[in-house]
Amino acid sequence: MYSKKKQKELYERSKDFLTDKVTLSAANVDALREAIVYHEWRYYVLNEPVVSDFEYDQLYKKLEALETAHPKLVTPDSPTQRVSNDLTADFPTVAHLIPMLSLDNSYNAEDLKDFDQRIHELAMLEEGADVEYVVEPKFDGGSIALVYEDDRLVRGATRGNGTQGDEITHNMRALRSIPLKAAFSEHGIKKVELRGEAIIRLDNFKRINAKREKEEKSVFANPRNAATGALRMKDPSETASRGLEAFIYQLGYAEDAAGNEILKNIPTHNEGIEMLASLGFKVPVIERKLCKNIQEVTDFCMEWQDKREGYDYEIDGMVVKVNRLEIQEKCGYTSHHPRWAIAFKFKAKQATTKLLDVEFQVGKIGQVTPVAKLEPVALAGVTVSSVSLHNEDFIQSKDLHLGDTVLVERAGDVIPYIVKALPELRDGSEVKIEYPTHCPSCKTELVQPEGEAAWRCENYACEAQTLRRLIHHVSKDAMNIDGFGEKYILRFNELGWLDTVADIYRLDYTKISELEGFGQRSADNLEAAIDTAKKNGIARLLYSFSIPHIGRSVSKKVAAEVEDIRDLKTWTAEQLTDLSDIGPKVANELIDFFKKQKNLDLLDELEQLGVNLKRLDSEMKQEAITDGVFSGKTILFTGKLQLMSRTDAKARAVAAGAKPISAVSGNLNILVVGEKPGSKLKKANELGTVEVMTEAEFLEKINI
Ligand code: IVH
Repeated sequence: MYSKKKQKELYERSKDFLTDKVTLSAANVDALREAIVYHEWRYYVLNEPVVSDFEYDQLYKKLEALETAHPKLVTPDSPTQRVSNDLTADFPTVAHLIPMLSLDNSYNAEDLKDFDQRIHELAMLEEGADVEYVVEPKFDGGSIALVYEDDRLVRGATRGNGTQGDEITHNMRALRSIPLKAAFSEHGIKKVELRGEAIIRLDNFKRINAKREKEEKSVFANPRNAATGALRMKDPSETASRGLEAFIYQLGYAEDAAGNEILKNIPTHNEGIEMLASLGFKVPVIERKLCKNIQEVTDFCMEWQDKREGYDYEIDGMVVKVNRLEIQEKCGYTSHHPRWAIAFKFKAKQATTKLLDVEFQVGKIGQVTPVAKLEPVALAGVTVSSVSLHNEDFIQSKDLHLGDTVLVERAGDVIPYIVKALPELRDGSEVKIEYPTHCPSCKTELVQPEGEAAWRCENYACEAQTLRRLIHHVSKDAMNIDGFGEKYILRFNELGWLDTVADIYRLDYTKISELEGFGQRSADNLEAAIDTAKKNGIARLLYSFSIPHIGRSVSKKVAAEVEDIRDLKTWTAEQLTDLSDIGPKVANELIDFFKKQKNLDLLDELEQLGVNLKRLDSEMKQEAITDGVFSGKTILFTGKLQLMSRTDAKARAVAAGAKPISAVSGNLNILVVGEKPGSKLKKANELGTVEVMTEAEFLEKINI
């Protein structure tokens, strides 16, 4: 795609733009675009960027700024035009240039041998003559068809019914692994249809679900559902935010300027894929193999059957394709699948089993989670006997009943989940799952906060919650009390020794040493571990209290700001939200916690028991920059910024020594104004003590 020389040139060109050695203007806007497209290819197609994300963003923003100032310079294939603002894409149906067929399946070496035999017969080849095959993953996402005409992406569609699909061009343009422009004309191709799969990397999938869980939205059952859903988003920026990637696996149709079908000019499938790679498409590379014969095919399939667990994407098999188009043509098609290709399906990761019971577990902040107890079943190497049902919506949407036969799936290292119930196997004895109205532990009536899927027990003293909080308090990420796990918590609690967090620090080690199964050594070890934990920093302590929304990073950030954890009782929401990454929800939870007298009493009690409440030196914020142009000054950005994003602006201000704050007050030194600044500017002018500057002046001051 890019020669070494070209890559070097594009890299150096980027640096020139970044260091302002070259000033961006109408004359070199195409040169900048070319550099940005190159970095997108390195990042989204190869996964090997050569510039930092920050540098890429800078280049992108320069282009965006120039195009905003001079809309005439915008071209439809500019990198900035991936996500259009058209929010009303309502998916008209379009016909594929040729039908998108399905694949026949195979499951073992023998099936593959039979397939090879059939190919020999259909293509009238001599028995024993080797046939070349290409093997590549069977990606498990949403199928897509992309049409390029005169080197430009003109249409994207879903597979639909195979003949017609939903037109999703807007969303396809948002995927940076799909080039908006590709030099097919250099290969004599005027119009081409490519087939591929839009998929989501497993790590990305986990990130999406973790975020959804935090936002109390329903989670996706698997990456495929997240991907196919993303293909049909109304807002292309939503599609882009799911991190969809498009692997292209097939040249479907190609024609030249005279309208002749010219696919056969590319003699093999492998060469077609290589050509697509050279044009900047994301194609399988390490996962693709050109095999000399069916034995090599079988070996490669088996190799991937083992490798798939460690692979970055979810795949459910491999696809075997005859390499030579001439042989493909001889084999032909059924109405359902090409006769020259076959899917090799991996061992099932799905199984059916019985849903025996549902337990409602109460979490550390009172959230009630239904957990299904299953008849134990083997699934891709592990025995599964219990799976989370997430919330009431999940149970209702799947219409689950006790006694149902359910289909369970375990994909990659994703936790097992129920795909669906099989109502056709019901015999009438199944019972609807009743969601509790009261806490299973303390019987308090449950509440469902507005907009949340989970029901909660709001009784802070609820025993189940207390136990969960104690378990969290001693856990590795919290106070990290070595050797003190759930088992001890439950046992000491049963013995009446452990009700509150403070009780942990006044355990009687003599009594513990006399317990069955303990002895002096374990009691001594526990004492030593608890003594060590007493010296922990206050970030761990803050995190250990199970305050809703207060995770580890927020705890660290807040801990860096105070000398004694109790100082937080005087903090206001505004002070808290001035810290980066802390929103009003988090701020309110902290304020609520430190407002309650019983929590303040608990802190005093902990101090008396020897627990450290003071910030450690290692928890201090990194030294403020004292020699920056804005050192010692507070700063605030207002209005819509044109030259940089707000996050970027704040980061730059901090790097120049300033402290960003969120309101105009006597404390404010600098106000940077973007478009439509509004009341903040007015207030700053009234105060008369605030230095007001434009974005450009700000950038000039910090020398960028
Ligand atoms: S080839 C004419 N190759 O599997 C060629 N399909 O059952 C037919 N799929 O929905 C398809 N990875 O989207 C082919 N490497 C691959 C594939 C692949 C995934 C999907 C395809 C279709 C289904 C066919």
